[in-house]
Amino acid sequence: MGTADLQKIIARIDDLPTLPRTVLRITELVNDPKSSAKDLARIITDDQVLTARLLKLVNSSFYGFPQRISTVTNAIVLLGFDAIRSLLLTTSVFDLFAGRNKKSNQDQEKFWDHSLGCAVGAKVIGNHLRHDKIEELFVSGLLHDIGKIVEMLFLRDEFMRIVAIVNKQNTLMITAEHQVLGYSHAEIGKLLAGKWNLPVKLEQVIAHHHQPAAAGSFVMEASIVHLADILCRALNMGYGGDNKMPPLDKFAWESLRIRTDALESIMETMQDEYRDISTFIS
Ligand SMILES: [Fe+2]
Ligand SMILES: [Fe+2]
Repeated sequence: MGTADLQKIIARIDDLPTLPRTVLRITELVNDPKSSAKDLARIITDDQVLTARLLKLVNSSFYGFPQRISTVTNAIVLLGFDAIRSLLLTTSVFDLFAGRNKKSNQDQEKFWDHSLGCAVGAKVIGNHLRHDKIEELFVSGLLHDIGKIVEMLFLRDEFMRIVAIVNKQNTLMITAEHQVLGYSHAEIGKLLAGKWNLPVKLEQVIAHHHQPAAAGSFVMEASIVHLADILCRALNMGYGGDNKMPPLDKFAWESLRIRTDALESIMETMQDEYRDISTFIS
């Protein structure tokens, strides 16, 4: 990537929305080992919208708790810090971009469906592998293609040219992005993650979800998101911007050591969870 190009995205990234303050505070708190469920509850209850959302979510079929949960503290105790952070990030990121550009709303929705499909996929694959940070995987999947949303909203002309190349030359979006911009949505996403002070792991997974081998200490997480990206396309969850299936990275597949015959049940679980989660996100 040329320096001029990099400068150009950084300049545009400055115009990008920032996360709501409450969410930033929650992210900080979750990273602070001295904080308690009480501290977190206080921040959330200060925000009525977040409170309502949280209670709606914990009482939804997605979590399936048998009893009714009526306080934020109970929700935190039941779900844990990580899950709360992932939930709040999810809804805030959706809000941030939703309806910014009415014209592209339909495309944007399909992109979000793709992201949600990948998030669910990463969670289900993570569970299958007994990964210990399931919520983090969910958020990684959700944000893996955030760079595409940025292109769609903030690099409109370039985005249209990319889409034209994808349709005319039957090429993958990432190849067209390199032709038009000299970089891809993975690099843009990495910049945005940096701007939002998201954890390094998340930033690295976003940056390397197309080449997990380059993800350093986060090869497993990047490989999980990489596979989830492909599975959610196979299941027709939203639209990832490509008219053909991107190839499964050999290194990623070998790192995961998932048996081929386990894929069917992984995909079935993905479909069930995707159905459940779509109902409260939309
Ligand atoms: Fe991607
Ligand atoms: Fe994707």
